[in-house]
Amino acid sequence: MTDPTRHAPLDLPPDEFRKLGHDLVERIAAHLETLAERPLTAGDPPSAIRELLGNSALSSGGSDPAKLLDETARLLFEHSLSNGHPKFWGYITGSPAPLGMLGDLLASAVNPNVGAYVLSPVATELEKQTVRWIADFIGFPAACGGIMVSGGNMANMVAFLAARKAKAPWDIRKQGLRNGTGQLLAYASRETHTWIQKAADLFGLGLDAVRWIETDDRLRMNTAALERAIVADRAAGHLPFIVVGTAGSVSTGAIDPLGEVAAICKRHDLWFHVDGAYGAPAAVLPEASPDLKALSLADSVAVDPHKWLYAPLEAGCTLVRNSAHLADAFSFHPAYYHFSDSDDGEKPTNFHELGLQNSRGFRALKVWLGLRQAGRDGYIQMIRDDIALTEAMYRAAEAHPELEAFTLGLSIATFRYVPADLTLTGPEREQYLNDLNSALVTRLQADGEFFVSNAVINGSYVLRACIVNFRTSLADVEAVPEMVVRTGRSLMEEIAVR
Ligand SMILES: Cc1ncc(COP(=O)(O)O)c(C=O)c1O
Repeated sequence: MTDPTRHAPLDLPPDEFRKLGHDLVERIAAHLETLAERPLTAGDPPSAIRELLGNSALSSGGSDPAKLLDETARLLFEHSLSNGHPKFWGYITGSPAPLGMLGDLLASAVNPNVGAYVLSPVATELEKQTVRWIADFIGFPAACGGIMVSGGNMANMVAFLAARKAKAPWDIRKQGLRNGTGQLLAYASRETHTWIQKAADLFGLGLDAVRWIETDDRLRMNTAALERAIVADRAAGHLPFIVVGTAGSVSTGAIDPLGEVAAICKRHDLWFHVDGAYGAPAAVLPEASPDLKALSLADSVAVDPHKWLYAPLEAGCTLVRNSAHLADAFSFHPAYYHFSDSDDGEKPTNFHELGLQNSRGFRALKVWLGLRQAGRDGYIQMIRDDIALTEAMYRAAEAHPELEAFTLGLSIATFRYVPADLTLTGPEREQYLNDLNSALVTRLQADGEFFVSNAVINGSYVLRACIVNFRTSLADVEAVPEMVVRTGRSLMEEIAVR
C-alpha cells in the first residue's frame, strides 16, 4: 500500500502531470508549425550556451516542475539545431516523424526493459516484428535475426562481432585474440564509414587489421583489388574473416557492387556484411539498382532508422541472416537471471542475449509507429521524393556558372563554389578552392539559413547535401545555388578586404 505520508520529490500528481503534458505538447506543436520560418540554428558558441545554463552547483533544493519545463522547452527550442527543419541537409540525420516523438514519450511512460521478455512482453514481440518489417522492407529475408541498437555505429559493430565469432577458426569468446594462429582481417573500401576503425580498435584486432580496398572512379569498391588482397593475405598466413560492402557511402552515397562482393565472399568463405546505415531503405524502391538490391545476399546488414526511416534519434538495427549468430556471439546465462520459458512452451526472446546491452529501452516503438503510419508505399513515396529533390539540387548546381557539381548518389549531392574571376591554376587553384569552400561550409552552417556539411572527393573539398527529410520542398532545394553563391561572394569580399 502506498504510504500516504510519503511525498517523493520526483513524483507528480496525475492532474499536474496532465497539465504539464498538455502544455508541452502545445509548445511542441507550435514549434513544428513554425519550424520553416525560424532559423535552423542560433549558431551559439559553447560559451554562450554555458552562460545560459549558468555554472552554479546543483542546488540542494528542487524546482517547480511547470516553471522548469517551461524554461527548458524555451532553452531547447531557441538554442538547438533543428534537424527537422525543411532545409536541414547536413550529415545524415532524418527529419524526425512527429508520431515517433510521441512514441518516445509513450515508450518512456511504459518503460519496459527490453533486455528480457518477462520484463517487456509486448515490447519484445513488437521489437521482433519491427526487425522483421525492416528486413522485409529492404528485401532481406524476414526470417532473419536482429536487434535494435542506438545507431549505425552500433548496428555495424554488433554485426562485426557476430562475424568475428562465426568466422574465427578457434573459440574466440573463450580464448580471445591471443590464439597466435594469424591475424584476423577485415576488408572495406576506402569510402567506408569510420565505425570500422572503432570496431577494429575497440575489439582488439587493431587498426592494421583493416585492409582498405581502393575504389573506382565512382567511389565504389574495386572488387578485383578486393579479391587480390584476400588471396595475398591468405597466402601470407593471415585470416580474412569479413568483407564490408557499403550501401550508400557517407560521403557521396556510392553503392559498392554488392552482388560481386557477395560472390567473392562465397568463394572465399568470408562473412559478407553490408553497411546500409544510410542507403539500405532505398532498396525498397522498385527502381533501385541491382547493386543495391544485392544487399539481400549479405550475412548481415546494418540499417539506421534514425536516418532514412525518419525515426527520432536514437534507432539503429542489425539484421543477421542466421539468427543463431547473434546468440552465439553475445549470450551469457548468469545465475541471477530467472528468465524461464513461457506457458506455451516457446522459449521467449531475451534481447540481452543478442547484443551488447543488458537493460534496454523501447527503441523499436517509434520505428514501428512510423512503419505503420506511412506503410511501405508511404515510405517509397518519401524516399523517392528525397532522391528526386537531391537530383533537382544537383542539376541546379550544375547549371549555375559559379558552382561546380561533383557527385550525385542516392540522396546526396556534392558541389563547390568556384568564383567567376578565379585566375589561379594547378595545385594553387585547388588549395585556394579547398580553403574557400571549407570557410564557406563554416559560414553557411553558422548563418542557419540552410544546413549542408562537407565531403572531400579525390582531394577536393566540396559542399555536401544529404536529403533524408520529408519536409524539404522543391523551392527549398532550387534556392540553394543562389544562396551558396551569394555567401561565397561575400566571403571573397571579406578575404579581399583583409
Ligand atoms: C554509411 C554509414 N555508416 C555508419 C554511420 C554511423 O551511423 P550513426 O551515426 O547512426 O552511428 C553513418 C552515419 O552517417 C553512415 O553514413
